[in-house]
Amino acid sequence: MKQLIHKLFCRGKLSRDEIVYLLGRLDGETRQELYRLAHRKRSEKYGDKVYMRGLIEFSSFCKQDCLYCGLRAGNKAAERYRLKPAEILDCCREGYDLGYRTFVLQSGEDAWYTEEILVRLVRDIKAEFPDAAITLSIGERDERTYRSLFDAGADRFLLRHETASRNLYQSLHPTMSFDNRRKCLSVLQSIGYQIGAGFMVGLPGQTLEDLADDLLYLQDLHPDMIGIGPFIPHSRTPLGGAEAGTIDDTLAMVALARLMVPDALIPATTALGSLDASGREKALKVGANVVMPNLSPLAVRKKYALYNNKICTGDESAACRHCLELRINSAGFSVDMGRGDSLKSLRMK
Ligand code: SAM
Ligand code: SF4
Ligand code: FES
Repeated sequence: MKQLIHKLFCRGKLSRDEIVYLLGRLDGETRQELYRLAHRKRSEKYGDKVYMRGLIEFSSFCKQDCLYCGLRAGNKAAERYRLKPAEILDCCREGYDLGYRTFVLQSGEDAWYTEEILVRLVRDIKAEFPDAAITLSIGERDERTYRSLFDAGADRFLLRHETASRNLYQSLHPTMSFDNRRKCLSVLQSIGYQIGAGFMVGLPGQTLEDLADDLLYLQDLHPDMIGIGPFIPHSRTPLGGAEAGTIDDTLAMVALARLMVPDALIPATTALGSLDASGREKALKVGANVVMPNLSPLAVRKKYALYNNKICTGDESAACRHCLELRINSAGFSVDMGRGDSLKSLRMK
């Protein structure tokens, strides 16, 4: 088993069968070896730096109906809010003063924010903070909108592929299509965005083969960023009674992603921190190198409820910034408040 992990470390590649074999037999010792080598790979590529991004969750309205998500249109009990562009700019100002040089603008799929409104917002943020990067995470739009937003100054786009299994994808996304999700990712990449893909671990019905396919898809796509988090149920969704993904399974996937796409930026996700109080520190030690503290106004935090028991819903932006810095330092890493572009994008400049 250790041989397979060493092969992956040296060559960066394993076959689908080898990945499935490894995932099915990860015991204490092999797991530690996987973590050790993933940490070594991350240190080779990015040293001990951890990049901080300020996350602004600007709308909890969503027209889609993903079975796992608390923001799904079918959740009539969800409290909805929309931040006005001026309020989003205020969050950026607060974030800039706290040192952030990347703003991640995330929302449900909310048509209230037309192409025109978003383009103006991106231009306004860039005009005020030309040295900051803008990451969008607003779901699926048409190619023209993606292009206008890029031309307005958006730098990056996060759109998780969610699962590489066509069947599982279709069963979880009654209003969406597997092919369109993948098409959006390749369109975004061809426009010139730094893109982020990724998936959830522990989705009901997900197999080891599906997880192997997630890793192989990522290796093939070669995104700049990879978001991997555990599935966590939300009680007002059809999956409310399902088991959550586990910390161990998620950490193993983070470590494997580091070895298979060594130059990727990989966040220690909020979902990991929500499942385990030290989940984010654990992820940093097995290959993750980004954190995304919350910059949303306190008044709306609780309403952006993707899953139960989400952390940081009652903490000021400055408190999250401070809390994460302490956590990063105590895990043995150093904070980098720069833009933190991916190595792939820096090579292409
Ligand atoms: N609406 C956009 C989209 O879906 O791409 C962006 C916002 S969406 C809330 C961001 C991510 O949250 C999704 O890509 C999904 O992986 C994650 N997410 C949603 N519900 C979740 C749950 N119950 N457990 C863990 N992650 C979840
Ligand atoms: Fe909407 Fe995104 Fe949640 Fe799906 S995951 S319901 S698209 S916010
Ligand atoms: Fe928000 Fe710790 S990161 S309180």
